[in-house]
Amino acid sequence: MIRIRSVLPLFAITLLCLAALQGCAKRETEIKVGEYGSLTGSTATFGISSKNGIELYVDNLNVQGGIGGKKIHVLVEDDQSKPEEAATAVNKLIAQDGVVAVLGEVASSRSLAAAPICQSAGVPMISPSSTNPRVTDIGDQIFRVCYIDPFQGMVIARFAKNTLHFSKAAVFRDNKNDYSVGLANFFTESFRGMGGTIVTDQSYSEGDQDFKAQLTVIKSKKPEFIFIPGYYTEVGLIARQARELGLNVPMLGGDGWVSERLLEIAQDALNGSYLVNHYWEQDPNPLVQGFVQSYHKRYKATPDGLAALAYDAAGVLANAMQRLSTEDPKAFETLSGPPNAEQKAARAKLRDLIAATRDYPGVTGKISLDDHRNAVKPAVFLGIENRGYKFVATVEP
Ligand code: PHE
Repeated sequence: MIRIRSVLPLFAITLLCLAALQGCAKRETEIKVGEYGSLTGSTATFGISSKNGIELYVDNLNVQGGIGGKKIHVLVEDDQSKPEEAATAVNKLIAQDGVVAVLGEVASSRSLAAAPICQSAGVPMISPSSTNPRVTDIGDQIFRVCYIDPFQGMVIARFAKNTLHFSKAAVFRDNKNDYSVGLANFFTESFRGMGGTIVTDQSYSEGDQDFKAQLTVIKSKKPEFIFIPGYYTEVGLIARQARELGLNVPMLGGDGWVSERLLEIAQDALNGSYLVNHYWEQDPNPLVQGFVQSYHKRYKATPDGLAALAYDAAGVLANAMQRLSTEDPKAFETLSGPPNAEQKAARAKLRDLIAATRDYPGVTGKISLDDHRNAVKPAVFLGIENRGYKFVATVEP
């Protein structure tokens, strides 16, 4: 009796050891990808739309078998719309979760806060929608699938000058937002270069509620339009307060206006105004329509530009992983393995394959990454009428 009792635990321990050994030798059946975004806070629709777009892409891919027999597992971190939290989120994804690549962020200030962490860890980061040029300057691990603000500022200036025939602009910028400051400057430079005048350049800070003082100055300078390179919450409030003050000129904005919340906040105050987007949901291209339909089926909503860009960012990453799995199956296998020299080399290969992306057929257009790891893509102008959007023009780079 005593003997048997003592043998049983031994047997159990042997079994446990065997199981553990097998666990080590077992090939990983999934690839971990990190995503960080503003699921809550002042720009929550940015993070939610992006998450939906990524989820839709990745779930479709996994249903079709994944990549090289592995499923993609996306780990999502909420940065609460704050740059400090973005850095914390990415640190966790890399150091704790061991992700092989990172998708995010939307807002340039948050991408700028987190990109140095990806760069020094040798983990590629693909921003779907940060347009400030400095984001990819952080280093060779940092990519984006959207156009950049020198282009965006230039096309807005040209649209104001040549299409709307305006030559007197007021600029109203968010002073602590890298995207807003950059785009305001690029616009100003282009508009002046075309012979336009900036009659006043005013500023606010994210979170402000009352814009009447600056709007009163703007009104007194008699601009033909106001350029507001900000995010949707403040833009909506600014538009309403401007109309209350009898300042009725059109407003022009960049991609930061893109949100289902914009016209809920602004109500009728933005009728007659214009913004720039990255795609147009009624584009008859079957690729776009297929995406819009499957998104609608799943989320009961129309995908905005952010959902579309995030879908494409996931696609560009998956496409590079796919090429790695066929060109170098051993490196592909090593990607998620223990951190050693081989894993480092495999991740460097993945980086190189992302950098080599050419003519990827995205729902936001063909994506080719240039020497600075930026995509060169068309901008889409939308007009606002009766609290809705209408397509105005696509501007090729
Ligand atoms: N381009 C903006 C930035 O860099 C983010 C953004 C993109 C917001 C697209 C809305 C739509 O901060």
